[in-house]
Amino acid sequence: MNYDTLVIGAGAAGMMCAAHAGGRVLIVDHARAPGEKIRISGGGRCNFTNMYCDAEAFISENPHFAKSALARYTQWDFIALVDQHGIAWHEKTLGQLFCDTSAKDITAMLRTLMQDAGVDLHLQTEISHFARSPDGFKATLIRDGHTQHVTAKRAVIATGGKSIPKMGATGFAYDIARQFGHRVTELEAALVPFTFPDRRFAAISGVACPARISANGPAFDEALLFTHRGLSGPAVLQASSYWNAGEAITITLNPDTDFATLLREKRQSDGKKALTTELARHLPARLVDHLSTEFDLSGRLGDISDTRISEITQMLSAWRLTPGGTEGYRTAEVTRGGIDTATLDSKTMQSKTTPGLFFIGEAVDVTGWLGGYNFQWAWSSAMAAARAL
Ligand code: FDA
Repeated sequence: MNYDTLVIGAGAAGMMCAAHAGGRVLIVDHARAPGEKIRISGGGRCNFTNMYCDAEAFISENPHFAKSALARYTQWDFIALVDQHGIAWHEKTLGQLFCDTSAKDITAMLRTLMQDAGVDLHLQTEISHFARSPDGFKATLIRDGHTQHVTAKRAVIATGGKSIPKMGATGFAYDIARQFGHRVTELEAALVPFTFPDRRFAAISGVACPARISANGPAFDEALLFTHRGLSGPAVLQASSYWNAGEAITITLNPDTDFATLLREKRQSDGKKALTTELARHLPARLVDHLSTEFDLSGRLGDISDTRISEITQMLSAWRLTPGGTEGYRTAEVTRGGIDTATLDSKTMQSKTTPGLFFIGEAVDVTGWLGGYNFQWAWSSAMAAARAL
Protein backbone atom coordinates (compact mmCIF):
# COMPACT_ATOMS: atom_id res chain seq x y z
CA MET A 1 0.00 0.00 0.00
CA ASN A 2 1.23 3.49 -0.84
CA TYR A 3 0.47 6.51 1.28
CA ASP A 4 1.44 10.15 1.29
CA THR A 5 2.03 10.08 5.04
CA LEU A 6 2.62 7.27 7.53
CA VAL A 7 2.10 8.32 11.16
CA ILE A 8 3.45 5.88 13.76
CA GLY A 9 1.74 6.22 17.16
CA ALA A 10 -1.98 7.02 17.54
CA GLY A 11 -1.67 9.03 20.73
CA ALA A 12 -2.44 12.72 21.22
CA ALA A 13 0.18 14.05 18.80
CA GLY A 14 -0.17 11.31 16.18
CA MET A 15 -3.96 11.59 15.87
CA MET A 16 -3.86 15.40 15.76
CA CYS A 17 -1.25 15.28 13.02
CA ALA A 18 -2.95 12.54 10.98
CA ALA A 19 -6.27 14.41 11.09
CA HIS A 20 -4.71 17.58 9.66
CA ALA A 21 -2.05 16.14 7.32
CA GLY A 22 -4.12 15.96 4.13
CA GLY A 23 -3.60 13.42 1.32
CA ARG A 24 -3.61 9.65 1.88
CA VAL A 25 -2.69 9.04 5.50
CA LEU A 26 -2.14 5.82 7.45
CA ILE A 27 -1.77 5.91 11.24
CA VAL A 28 -0.62 2.77 13.07
CA ASP A 29 -0.39 1.85 16.74
CA HIS A 30 0.37 -1.37 18.57
CA ALA A 31 -2.28 -0.65 21.21
CA ARG A 32 -5.87 -1.93 21.07
CA ALA A 33 -7.29 1.60 21.16
CA PRO A 34 -5.96 5.01 20.15
CA GLY A 35 -5.20 7.70 22.71
CA GLU A 36 -4.97 5.51 25.79
CA LYS A 37 -3.05 8.15 27.74
CA ILE A 38 -5.68 10.74 26.88
CA ARG A 39 -8.29 8.39 28.33
CA ILE A 40 -6.57 8.13 31.73
CA SER A 41 -5.27 11.70 31.84
CA GLY A 42 -6.41 14.30 34.32
CA GLY A 43 -8.14 11.68 36.47
CA GLY A 44 -10.31 10.69 33.46
CA ARG A 45 -11.20 14.29 32.57
CA CYS A 46 -8.08 15.17 30.49
CA ASN A 47 -6.37 18.44 31.38
CA PHE A 48 -6.14 19.19 27.66
CA THR A 49 -4.37 22.57 27.75
CA ASN A 50 -3.43 25.49 29.97
CA MET A 51 -4.63 29.07 29.49
CA TYR A 52 -1.22 30.42 30.51
CA CYS A 53 0.77 28.19 28.19
CA ASP A 54 4.06 29.66 27.03
CA ALA A 55 7.57 28.39 26.39
CA GLU A 56 8.70 29.04 29.98
CA ALA A 57 6.64 26.08 31.12
CA PHE A 58 8.78 23.64 29.13
CA ILE A 59 12.14 22.02 29.85
CA SER A 60 14.54 21.37 26.99
CA GLU A 61 18.26 21.63 26.23
CA ASN A 62 17.12 24.43 23.89
CA PRO A 63 14.46 26.43 25.77
CA HIS A 64 13.67 28.44 22.59
CA PHE A 65 12.84 25.42 20.41
CA ALA A 66 9.18 25.07 21.44
CA LYS A 67 8.34 28.75 20.90
CA SER A 68 7.56 28.61 17.19
CA ALA A 69 5.19 25.63 17.29
CA LEU A 70 3.45 26.91 20.45
CA ALA A 71 2.95 30.32 18.85
CA ARG A 72 1.63 28.94 15.57
CA TYR A 73 -0.91 26.63 17.18
CA THR A 74 -1.85 28.01 20.57
CA GLN A 75 -3.99 26.92 23.49
CA TRP A 76 -6.72 29.23 22.11
CA ASP A 77 -6.66 27.32 18.80
CA PHE A 78 -7.18 24.03 20.62
CA ILE A 79 -9.89 25.53 22.84
CA ALA A 80 -11.67 26.71 19.67
CA LEU A 81 -11.47 23.17 18.26
CA VAL A 82 -12.88 21.69 21.47
CA ASP A 83 -15.69 24.29 21.39
CA GLN A 84 -16.51 23.49 17.75
CA HIS A 85 -17.02 19.87 18.82
CA GLY A 86 -19.33 20.90 21.65
CA ILE A 87 -17.08 19.57 24.40
CA ALA A 88 -17.87 21.34 27.67
CA TRP A 89 -14.87 22.28 29.82
CA HIS A 90 -13.91 24.20 32.92
CA GLU A 91 -10.83 25.72 34.52
CA LYS A 92 -9.87 23.76 37.60
CA THR A 93 -6.99 25.89 38.89
CA LEU A 94 -3.93 27.76 37.58
CA GLY A 95 -5.32 27.94 34.03
CA GLN A 96 -5.71 24.15 33.78
CA LEU A 97 -8.63 23.25 31.49
CA PHE A 98 -10.44 19.93 31.95
CA CYS A 99 -13.38 18.26 30.16
CA ASP A 100 -16.60 18.58 32.16
CA THR A 101 -17.63 15.02 31.34
CA SER A 102 -14.87 12.69 30.18
CA ALA A 103 -11.44 12.53 28.57
CA LYS A 104 -13.06 10.19 26.06
CA ASP A 105 -14.62 13.30 24.47
CA ILE A 106 -11.16 14.41 23.34
CA THR A 107 -10.30 10.99 21.89
CA ALA A 108 -13.70 10.85 20.15
CA MET A 109 -13.10 14.32 18.68
CA LEU A 110 -9.71 13.27 17.29
CA ARG A 111 -11.20 10.06 15.86
CA THR A 112 -13.97 12.05 14.18
CA LEU A 113 -11.44 14.45 12.70
CA MET A 114 -9.43 11.52 11.35
CA GLN A 115 -12.53 9.83 9.91
CA ASP A 116 -13.63 13.05 8.23
CA ALA A 117 -10.17 13.36 6.69
CA GLY A 118 -10.30 9.75 5.42
CA VAL A 119 -7.34 8.61 7.53
CA ASP A 120 -6.72 4.84 7.72
CA LEU A 121 -6.24 3.71 11.34
CA HIS A 122 -4.53 0.36 11.96
CA LEU A 123 -4.50 -0.74 15.59
CA GLN A 124 -2.74 -3.73 17.21
CA THR A 125 -0.10 -3.30 14.54
CA GLU A 126 3.60 -3.81 15.19
CA ILE A 127 6.27 -2.09 13.13
CA SER A 128 8.94 -4.71 12.47
CA HIS A 129 11.02 -2.69 10.00
CA PHE A 130 11.25 0.99 9.09
CA ALA A 131 13.72 2.40 6.58
CA ARG A 132 14.32 4.90 3.80
CA SER A 133 13.02 3.92 0.33
CA PRO A 134 13.60 5.56 -3.06
CA ASP A 135 10.30 7.49 -2.79
CA GLY A 136 10.33 8.17 0.93
CA PHE A 137 9.98 5.48 3.58
CA LYS A 138 9.00 1.83 3.77
CA ALA A 139 7.66 -0.02 6.77
CA THR A 140 6.85 -3.64 7.47
CA LEU A 141 3.75 -3.93 9.62
CA ILE A 142 2.52 -7.01 11.43
CA ARG A 143 -1.14 -7.31 12.31
CA ASP A 144 -2.94 -10.49 13.38
CA GLY A 145 0.15 -12.45 12.33
CA HIS A 146 -0.06 -11.02 8.81
CA THR A 147 2.78 -9.01 7.32
CA GLN A 148 2.03 -5.92 5.27
CA HIS A 149 4.49 -3.68 3.43
CA VAL A 150 3.66 0.00 3.13
CA THR A 151 5.46 2.91 1.57
CA ALA A 152 4.91 6.59 2.27
CA LYS A 153 6.41 9.80 0.94
CA ARG A 154 6.69 11.13 4.48
CA ALA A 155 6.76 9.59 7.95
CA VAL A 156 5.84 11.07 11.30
CA ILE A 157 7.11 9.39 14.46
CA ALA A 158 4.67 10.06 17.32
CA THR A 159 5.21 7.13 19.68
CA GLY A 160 5.70 9.27 22.79
CA GLY A 161 8.04 8.70 25.72
CA LYS A 162 8.85 5.85 28.07
CA SER A 163 6.40 6.52 30.89
CA ILE A 164 3.94 3.77 31.85
CA PRO A 165 5.28 0.79 29.85
CA LYS A 166 2.20 -1.17 31.02
CA MET A 167 0.15 1.09 28.74
CA GLY A 168 2.34 0.36 25.73
CA ALA A 169 5.03 3.03 26.05
CA THR A 170 8.24 2.04 24.26
CA GLY A 171 11.51 3.63 23.24
CA PHE A 172 10.54 3.24 19.55
CA ALA A 173 10.89 6.94 18.67
CA TYR A 174 14.36 7.10 20.22
CA ASP A 175 15.44 3.96 18.31
CA ILE A 176 14.23 5.41 15.01
CA ALA A 177 15.89 8.75 15.79
CA ARG A 178 19.23 7.00 16.45
CA GLN A 179 18.76 4.86 13.32
CA PHE A 180 18.63 8.09 11.30
CA GLY A 181 21.62 9.63 13.09
CA HIS A 182 19.80 11.85 15.61
CA ARG A 183 21.15 12.26 19.12
CA VAL A 184 18.80 11.46 22.00
CA THR A 185 19.38 13.48 25.17
CA GLU A 186 19.53 11.89 28.60
CA LEU A 187 16.12 10.47 29.49
CA GLU A 188 14.58 10.59 32.98
CA ALA A 189 11.19 9.86 34.48
CA ALA A 190 9.51 13.23 35.20
CA LEU A 191 6.31 14.46 36.86
CA VAL A 192 6.89 11.56 39.22
CA PRO A 193 6.72 11.00 43.02
CA PHE A 194 9.91 10.86 45.10
CA THR A 195 10.80 7.78 47.12
CA PHE A 196 12.75 7.46 50.38
CA PRO A 197 14.13 3.96 51.02
CA ASP A 198 13.70 4.33 54.80
CA ARG A 199 9.96 5.03 54.29
CA ARG A 200 10.26 7.84 56.81
CA PHE A 201 6.86 9.31 55.95
CA ALA A 202 4.90 6.04 56.12
CA ALA A 203 3.33 7.02 59.47
CA ILE A 204 1.94 10.25 57.98
CA SER A 205 0.91 8.73 54.66
CA GLY A 206 -2.12 10.59 53.32
CA VAL A 207 -1.31 13.89 55.06
CA ALA A 208 -1.29 16.86 52.65
CA CYS A 209 -0.49 20.54 53.03
CA PRO A 210 0.29 23.58 50.87
CA ALA A 211 4.00 23.85 50.10
CA ARG A 212 6.58 25.56 47.92
CA ILE A 213 9.03 23.02 46.51
CA SER A 214 12.09 23.40 44.34
CA ALA A 215 14.72 21.01 43.02
CA ASN A 216 17.42 22.65 41.00
CA GLY A 217 14.87 24.81 39.17
CA PRO A 218 11.84 27.03 39.73
CA ALA A 219 9.82 26.72 42.95
CA PHE A 220 6.26 25.43 42.67
CA ASP A 221 3.47 26.45 45.08
CA GLU A 222 0.96 23.63 45.18
CA ALA A 223 -0.06 20.73 47.41
CA LEU A 224 2.47 18.35 49.01
CA LEU A 225 1.32 14.82 49.84
CA PHE A 226 3.16 12.41 52.13
CA THR A 227 2.98 8.78 51.01
CA HIS A 228 4.06 5.35 52.23
CA ARG A 229 7.02 5.43 49.89
CA GLY A 230 7.88 9.14 50.01
CA LEU A 231 6.47 12.39 48.64
CA SER A 232 3.88 13.14 45.99
CA GLY A 233 1.30 15.80 45.12
CA PRO A 234 1.42 18.44 42.38
CA ALA A 235 4.28 20.51 43.89
CA VAL A 236 6.44 17.39 44.16
CA LEU A 237 5.64 16.19 40.63
CA GLN A 238 6.53 19.62 39.23
CA ALA A 239 9.84 19.77 41.11
CA SER A 240 10.72 16.19 40.10
CA SER A 241 11.09 17.29 36.47
CA TYR A 242 14.13 19.36 37.48
CA TRP A 243 15.63 16.87 39.96
CA ASN A 244 18.83 14.89 39.40
CA ALA A 245 19.70 11.79 41.45
CA GLY A 246 21.56 12.57 44.66
CA GLU A 247 20.38 16.20 44.87
CA ALA A 248 18.43 17.71 47.78
CA ILE A 249 15.02 19.34 47.36
CA THR A 250 13.87 22.36 49.37
CA ILE A 251 10.41 22.52 50.90
CA THR A 252 8.66 25.55 52.40
CA LEU A 253 5.69 24.33 54.40
CA ASN A 254 2.60 26.52 54.21
CA PRO A 255 4.43 29.33 52.39
CA ASP A 256 1.64 31.86 53.10
CA THR A 257 2.38 31.77 56.82
CA ASP A 258 5.19 33.94 58.25
CA PHE A 259 6.18 31.56 61.05
CA ALA A 260 8.91 33.87 62.48
CA THR A 261 6.51 36.78 63.09
CA LEU A 262 3.76 34.45 64.22
CA LEU A 263 5.90 32.68 66.84
CA ARG A 264 7.31 35.97 68.19
CA GLU A 265 3.81 37.39 68.56
CA LYS A 266 2.44 34.23 70.16
CA ARG A 267 5.40 34.08 72.56
CA GLN A 268 4.18 37.46 73.91
CA SER A 269 0.44 36.84 73.89
CA ASP A 270 0.15 33.09 74.51
CA GLY A 271 3.37 32.06 76.27
CA LYS A 272 1.88 29.08 78.11
CA LYS A 273 0.72 27.36 74.94
CA ALA A 274 2.75 24.39 73.64
CA LEU A 275 4.74 25.18 70.49
CA THR A 276 3.28 22.12 68.74
CA THR A 277 -0.30 23.26 69.53
CA GLU A 278 0.34 26.59 67.82
CA LEU A 279 2.06 24.96 64.83
CA ALA A 280 -0.87 22.55 64.46
CA ARG A 281 -3.13 25.57 63.84
CA HIS A 282 -1.20 26.19 60.62
CA LEU A 283 -0.04 22.71 59.60
CA PRO A 284 -1.69 19.25 59.80
CA ALA A 285 -1.39 17.91 63.37
CA ARG A 286 0.10 14.58 62.21
CA LEU A 287 2.79 16.45 60.30
CA VAL A 288 3.59 18.54 63.37
CA ASP A 289 3.94 15.31 65.41
CA HIS A 290 6.33 13.94 62.80
CA LEU A 291 8.36 17.18 62.70
CA SER A 292 8.42 17.23 66.48
CA THR A 293 10.16 13.87 66.71
CA GLU A 294 12.58 14.81 63.94
CA PHE A 295 13.43 18.33 65.19
CA ASP A 296 12.36 18.34 68.87
CA LEU A 297 9.56 20.89 68.97
CA SER A 298 8.77 20.30 72.66
CA GLY A 299 8.24 23.15 75.13
CA ARG A 300 6.07 26.21 75.56
CA LEU A 301 5.97 29.25 73.32
CA GLY A 302 7.06 31.50 76.19
CA ASP A 303 10.29 29.54 76.63
CA ILE A 304 11.64 29.65 73.11
CA SER A 305 14.52 31.98 72.33
CA ASP A 306 14.98 34.14 69.24
CA THR A 307 17.66 31.72 68.05
CA ARG A 308 15.30 28.78 68.42
CA ILE A 309 12.55 30.68 66.54
CA SER A 310 15.04 31.25 63.70
CA GLU A 311 15.96 27.56 63.68
CA ILE A 312 12.30 26.48 63.61
CA THR A 313 11.47 29.00 60.90
CA GLN A 314 14.43 27.83 58.85
CA MET A 315 13.30 24.22 59.21
CA LEU A 316 9.72 25.05 58.12
CA SER A 317 10.70 27.36 55.27
CA ALA A 318 13.77 25.57 53.90
CA TRP A 319 13.37 21.91 54.83
CA ARG A 320 16.09 20.09 52.90
CA LEU A 321 15.49 16.47 51.98
CA THR A 322 17.42 14.17 49.66
CA PRO A 323 15.11 11.64 47.99
CA GLY A 324 16.52 8.18 47.38
CA GLY A 325 14.93 8.12 43.93
CA THR A 326 11.64 8.38 42.10
CA GLU A 327 8.85 5.95 41.29
CA GLY A 328 10.36 5.83 37.79
CA TYR A 329 8.60 5.24 34.49
CA ARG A 330 6.06 2.96 36.20
CA THR A 331 4.08 6.01 37.36
CA ALA A 332 5.81 9.01 35.73
CA GLU A 333 3.46 11.19 33.70
CA VAL A 334 6.18 12.05 31.19
CA THR A 335 9.77 11.49 30.11
CA ARG A 336 12.20 14.39 30.51
CA GLY A 337 14.53 14.65 27.53
CA GLY A 338 14.14 13.10 24.11
CA ILE A 339 15.17 13.60 20.52
CA ASP A 340 17.71 16.41 20.36
CA THR A 341 15.99 19.54 19.06
CA ALA A 342 19.23 20.73 17.43
CA THR A 343 18.58 18.29 14.59
CA LEU A 344 14.92 19.22 14.07
CA ASP A 345 13.39 22.24 12.33
CA SER A 346 11.41 24.11 15.01
CA LYS A 347 8.79 25.32 12.49
CA THR A 348 7.97 21.89 11.07
CA MET A 349 9.47 19.22 13.41
CA GLN A 350 11.17 17.81 10.32
CA SER A 351 14.56 16.14 10.60
CA LYS A 352 17.28 18.46 9.35
CA THR A 353 19.21 15.47 8.02
CA THR A 354 16.46 13.20 6.65
CA PRO A 355 13.89 15.19 4.64
CA GLY A 356 10.39 13.78 4.98
CA LEU A 357 10.97 12.38 8.48
CA PHE A 358 9.18 14.18 11.34
CA PHE A 359 9.22 13.70 15.13
CA ILE A 360 6.41 15.13 17.26
CA GLY A 361 4.99 15.05 20.79
CA GLU A 362 6.62 13.74 23.91
CA ALA A 363 9.37 11.89 22.00
CA VAL A 364 11.04 15.25 21.33
CA ASP A 365 13.23 16.89 23.99
CA VAL A 366 10.44 19.22 25.12
CA THR A 367 8.89 18.42 28.51
CA GLY A 368 6.04 20.47 29.92
CA TRP A 369 5.05 21.26 33.46
CA LEU A 370 2.07 19.57 35.05
CA GLY A 371 -1.18 21.31 34.11
CA GLY A 372 -2.06 20.63 30.47
CA TYR A 373 1.25 21.79 29.00
CA ASN A 374 2.26 18.37 27.69
CA PHE A 375 -0.95 17.94 25.72
CA GLN A 376 -0.57 21.46 24.34
CA TRP A 377 2.92 20.49 23.14
CA ALA A 378 1.41 17.38 21.52
CA TRP A 379 -1.22 19.52 19.67
CA SER A 380 1.22 22.30 18.70
CA SER A 381 4.05 20.06 17.50
CA ALA A 382 1.53 17.90 15.61
CA MET A 383 0.12 20.94 13.80
CA ALA A 384 3.61 22.20 13.00
CA ALA A 385 4.32 18.92 11.21
CA ALA A 386 0.83 18.60 9.66
CA ARG A 387 1.14 22.01 8.01
CA ALA A 388 4.43 20.97 6.41
CA LEU A 389 3.25 17.58 5.11
P1 FDA B 1 1.34 9.23 23.61
O1 FDA B 1 2.04 8.46 24.68
O2 FDA B 1 0.05 9.89 23.93
O3 FDA B 1 1.09 8.31 22.34
C1 FDA B 1 2.05 7.44 21.84
C2 FDA B 1 1.36 6.32 21.09
O4 FDA B 1 2.36 5.54 20.45
C3 FDA B 1 0.58 5.39 22.00
O5 FDA B 1 -0.72 5.24 21.50
C4 FDA B 1 1.38 4.09 21.98
O6 FDA B 1 0.56 2.93 22.07
C5 FDA B 1 2.07 4.17 20.64
N1 FDA B 1 3.31 3.41 20.56
C6 FDA B 1 4.36 3.46 21.42
N2 FDA B 1 5.32 2.62 21.01
C7 FDA B 1 4.87 2.05 19.87
C8 FDA B 1 5.43 1.07 18.99
N3 FDA B 1 6.64 0.53 19.21
N4 FDA B 1 4.69 0.69 17.92
C9 FDA B 1 3.46 1.22 17.71
N5 FDA B 1 2.88 2.13 18.49
C10 FDA B 1 3.60 2.55 19.58
N6 FDA B 1 -0.58 15.71 30.04
C11 FDA B 1 -1.35 16.81 30.08
O7 FDA B 1 -1.06 17.79 29.41
N7 FDA B 1 -2.50 16.82 30.85
C12 FDA B 1 -2.88 15.75 31.61
O8 FDA B 1 -3.94 15.76 32.25
C13 FDA B 1 -2.02 14.61 31.62
N8 FDA B 1 -2.31 13.55 32.43
C14 FDA B 1 -1.51 12.42 32.36
C15 FDA B 1 -1.81 11.33 33.19
C16 FDA B 1 -1.04 10.19 33.12
C17 FDA B 1 -1.34 9.04 34.05
C18 FDA B 1 0.04 10.12 32.21
C19 FDA B 1 0.88 8.88 32.09
C20 FDA B 1 0.35 11.21 31.40
C21 FDA B 1 -0.41 12.37 31.48
N9 FDA B 1 -0.10 13.49 30.70
C22 FDA B 1 -0.90 14.60 30.77
C23 FDA B 1 1.01 13.46 29.73
C24 FDA B 1 0.43 13.18 28.33
O9 FDA B 1 -0.38 12.02 28.39
C25 FDA B 1 1.55 12.96 27.32
O10 FDA B 1 2.47 14.02 27.38
C26 FDA B 1 0.96 12.87 25.92
O11 FDA B 1 0.08 11.77 25.84
C27 FDA B 1 2.06 12.71 24.88
O12 FDA B 1 1.45 12.56 23.61
P2 FDA B 1 2.17 11.73 22.48
O13 FDA B 1 1.17 11.62 21.38
O14 FDA B 1 3.50 12.29 22.20
O15 FDA B 1 2.42 10.29 23.11
